[in-house]
Amino acid sequence: MISVGIIGGSGYTGKKLIEFCNLHPEIDDFKIYGNSSSGRKILDLFPEFSNIIHNDEIASIDYLSNHDLYFIALPHGEALNYVPQLIADGKKVIDLGGDYRLDSQAEYETWYSKKHTSPQLLATKIYGLADYQAQDYSASNLIANPGCYPTATLLSLLPLADSFADEILTASTVAYSGTSGAGKTPKQELLLSEMDGNVSAYNLNKHRHQPEILQMLNKFGFDSPFSFSTHLLPVAVGIYATTSVHLKSEIPNEDIIAKYKSFYSNSPFVRLREVPPQLNWVVGTNFCDINISVKNKVMIITSAIDNLVKGASGQAIQNMNILFGWNETTSLLNYGVKNVPAY
Ligand SMILES: NC(=O)c1ccc[n+]([C@@H]2O[C@H](COP(=O)([O-])OP(=O)(O)OC[C@H]3O[C@@H](n4cnc5c(N)ncnc54)[C@H](OP(=O)(O)O)[C@@H]3O)[C@@H](O)[C@H]2O)c1
Repeated sequence: MISVGIIGGSGYTGKKLIEFCNLHPEIDDFKIYGNSSSGRKILDLFPEFSNIIHNDEIASIDYLSNHDLYFIALPHGEALNYVPQLIADGKKVIDLGGDYRLDSQAEYETWYSKKHTSPQLLATKIYGLADYQAQDYSASNLIANPGCYPTATLLSLLPLADSFADEILTASTVAYSGTSGAGKTPKQELLLSEMDGNVSAYNLNKHRHQPEILQMLNKFGFDSPFSFSTHLLPVAVGIYATTSVHLKSEIPNEDIIAKYKSFYSNSPFVRLREVPPQLNWVVGTNFCDINISVKNKVMIITSAIDNLVKGASGQAIQNMNILFGWNETTSLLNYGVKNVPAY
């Protein structure tokens, strides 16, 4: 049994972490740390947890108690203030933000417009794409939890890159996110009156998730032109990514499907679908649903996830399960599952 600190537990991903920690049989106790919300009662902030969790006070992130594991769910840049000391103290840390995802200090400073103050940890962290099973988590106490768009995009592209990287002429991902992807801080463009019935592209050619995706794809031998465009969808939750790949020559459909099946044969949270997934099938769950369509030399891959669960807190819990040697599905498998068509 372990004790857990949730730093940034008052935010959107923090709230999901509270739910998962409360359900987890290996977690003895968990404590929530906030910034502006410190001193408030948890149930003031989240009345929906009444009769489910204790109405403790939210503690200040400036005074951390002793825990075995810390989840960090803070805006980018803030984790730099906590992670180095926690790691020096021998603690395990899972950071949901972007501060430790990139391997290169220069890349981080370019894309995040901020100096990295603990670059030595960039080399030793594990990039925790939990459904990519070949990783050894014993080498580090720091897991950089992937971003939501990279999770949906990488899970849909890694099997292809792993076996057919040399066959890829270009890859282009068009991705859509619900508004909770931006966290709880109010922004005019996220108001219902702006979003209702509306779709818009944003951060074109400058989204911070692009170098994160490319970093991982490059490790799998992908070295072709790649474009990544992001859109806001008028829903609260969900990521939908459609990637078009132009191939140099035809690859039989069955070879590609066989590759995806074997790549994910031990991945309980990746579901290969015979038709393009719908957001509804995955929202509220830790699943990533993927469909592959190949015709002539064009391959179109669609993938769908819940940005707050598979794209953040669910994957963080999965990473915790792997880090501590527990069954990776613990407290996750049946979470949020609704009746969906069994294709
Ligand atoms: N939302 C997603 O879908 C998603 C997906 C993947 C990864 N992430 C990443 O996860 C992290 C948390 O995202 P979120 O959506 O949960 O954000 P959020 O809803 O905005 O919550 C942010 C949390 O950080 C605290 N905080 C805010 N400003 C702070 C500051 N200046 N110093 C210290 N603490 C501060 C807040 O505390 P108070 O409320 O007490 O002020 C709150 O607990 C981010 O790095 C984000 O990029 C988010």
